[in-house]
Amino acid sequence: MSLISGTDTQAWGELQRAAEALRAVSTGELFARDPWRFAQHSLEAGLLFYDYSRQRVDARALQALFAMADELGLRARIAAMFAGGIINVTEQRAVLHTALRRRSRTPLLVEGKDVMPQVLAEREHMLAFAEAVRSGKLRSSTGEAFNLVINIGIGGSDLGPAMAVEALRAHSHGGPRVGFASNVDGCQLADLLAGADPRRTLFIICSKTFSTLETLSNARAARSWLVAALGEAAVPAHFAAVSVNAGAMDAFGVHPDYRFAMWDWVGGRYSIWSSIGVSLAVALGRAGFLEFLEGAADIDEHFQRAPWAANLPVIMGLLGAWNINFQHLPTLAVLPYDQRLSRFPAYLQQLEMESNGKSVRLDGSPVTTETCAVVWGEPGNNAQHSFFQLLHQGTLRAALDLLVSINSSCGQQAHQNLAIANCLAQAEAFAFGQSPAPTPHRAYPGGRAVSVLMFAHLDPRTLGQLIATYEHSVFVQSVVWGNNAFDQWGVELGKKLCEGIVPLVESPLAARTDSASLAGGLAVVHRWRVAAE
Ligand code: F6P
Repeated sequence: MSLISGTDTQAWGELQRAAEALRAVSTGELFARDPWRFAQHSLEAGLLFYDYSRQRVDARALQALFAMADELGLRARIAAMFAGGIINVTEQRAVLHTALRRRSRTPLLVEGKDVMPQVLAEREHMLAFAEAVRSGKLRSSTGEAFNLVINIGIGGSDLGPAMAVEALRAHSHGGPRVGFASNVDGCQLADLLAGADPRRTLFIICSKTFSTLETLSNARAARSWLVAALGEAAVPAHFAAVSVNAGAMDAFGVHPDYRFAMWDWVGGRYSIWSSIGVSLAVALGRAGFLEFLEGAADIDEHFQRAPWAANLPVIMGLLGAWNINFQHLPTLAVLPYDQRLSRFPAYLQQLEMESNGKSVRLDGSPVTTETCAVVWGEPGNNAQHSFFQLLHQGTLRAALDLLVSINSSCGQQAHQNLAIANCLAQAEAFAFGQSPAPTPHRAYPGGRAVSVLMFAHLDPRTLGQLIATYEHSVFVQSVVWGNNAFDQWGVELGKKLCEGIVPLVESPLAARTDSASLAGGLAVVHRWRVAAE
C-alpha cells in the first residue's frame, strides 16, 4: 500500500519555517499584530465554542496545516471511515462507531451486508431494557425493582460510561444508582457491594471480548456474592451482558433477553454509543441517551462537511500534531472547570493514547516523527493548587486544553462563576505571562499553548458533541502520523505474561522462573503476604 504521512508532504517544510518564524514572538505580540486574532482563531461548532487564539499559531502556520491535510487526502480518509472502508488494516476491520449514531437510514454496507437494521434493532432492545430497569418494570428474582446497577467492565467498557454517568448526573433523575467496577483488585466492587441489597442489585457485564481477566474475575465475584445470598436460580434475573462473544455469555448463564450485541467494527474506546452505554441509558433514560447520540451525529456531519478553517475536530487534531511536532510539547494536560467532568481526562487518556500511541505506520514501517502526546489532567481548579506551578514556571512544557461549562452542572451558579473566572484567568496567565518581574522567581514567561473549549450546559447533547470532537481529532492526528488509530497491539504482551505469572503469585510452590527480576519480586510477595485466614 502506498502511504504518505505528514513528513512526506510539501507542507511539512513550510510548517517548520512557520514554527521557526514564531519562535521568538510572544503571544501578546501575536495579538498586537492582528486585531481580529480572537475572531479568526476561534469557532463555534454545534454547542461548542473553541478558542485557540492563545495557541502558538498564526495564519501562515494554519494555512500550512490545511495544505498538509489536503496533501494527505484527509477528506477522502474521512469519507472512507464513514463509508465502512476497511481502515483498521491490521485487524482487517471497518471502523464504524459513527454508524451507531447515524441519522441516515440509507444502507451502510460492511462485507456486502447492510448493518443499519442490526444497529437500530439493537439500540431499541437496549433502550427498552434500560427503561424497564429505570422504571422498575423489570423485576429482580424476588420481584423487586432494582435500586443499584453495577457496570462491570474495564477500558472502553468502563471509562466512557463511567465518565458520562458522572458528567450527566444532573440529567439522571429517578432511576437506580449506577456504579462501576473495573479494577482487578476487587476494591471497587467490594465498596459497591458493602451495604447493597442482593435482591435489588443488577450487574451488567460489559466486555467486547468477554475474555478480559479483570472483568471476568469481578463478574465471578459478583456472581458468588449473589448466589450466596439468593441461590443459583437467581442468577439470570440479576445479570445482563454486552459482548460480541455469545458463547461466553451462554457459559456465564446470561439470559437471552438480557444480552446485548456489539460488533467487531466498534473499537472498545469508541463503544459508548453501542449497548456498552447501557448503564448511561439506565441513568439518563431513552430520551437523554438519544440526545447524546444526536450530539455525536451533529459533529459527525460537521466533520464531514465543514471546510478545514471552520472544522472543529480538524483544527483540534492539526493543532495537536503542531504542538507535538513543531512546538515540541510532548504532553497534553486536560483541565475541566467542572467537577462533573472529573473522569474526562482518564477517558481521554485511553481514547488518545491507545489510539495513537504507536511507533509504526499502517504499512508496518517506522513512524517518521513523534506521535501521540501523553494525556493527563485533573479538574482545573483543583489542579491550580497542585501542579499548575510547573505548568507556569517549570522547564518542561505541556499543551493545555481548558474545558468550561458556562452554566453550573449542579445548580450552583455563583460557584460556577468563580470557576469560569479561574479558567479565564489561568488561560490569560499561561498565554501572556507577566514581565518584568520584581525577582526571577516571580517571572511568568507565558507563551504556553492553551485552548479553551466552552459550552453553555453540560447536557447529553453537548457531551455527545464533546466526545465525538475528540474522537475525530484523534483520527486526524493518526492521518498526519500515518498510524492505525484503531488497533492496540501494545496491550497484549503484558496480558499474556500475566497469565503465566498468576500461578507463581498464588502459590510459593510454583514460584520458579528464569527471570531474576521476576524471581526477586515474587520472593517479596511470598515473604510479605499475610496468610489467608
Ligand atoms: O487491554 C485493552 C483493551 O483491549 C481495550 O482496548 C478495551 O477497551 C479493554 O481492554 C476492555 O476490553 P473488553 O471490552 O474486551 O473487555
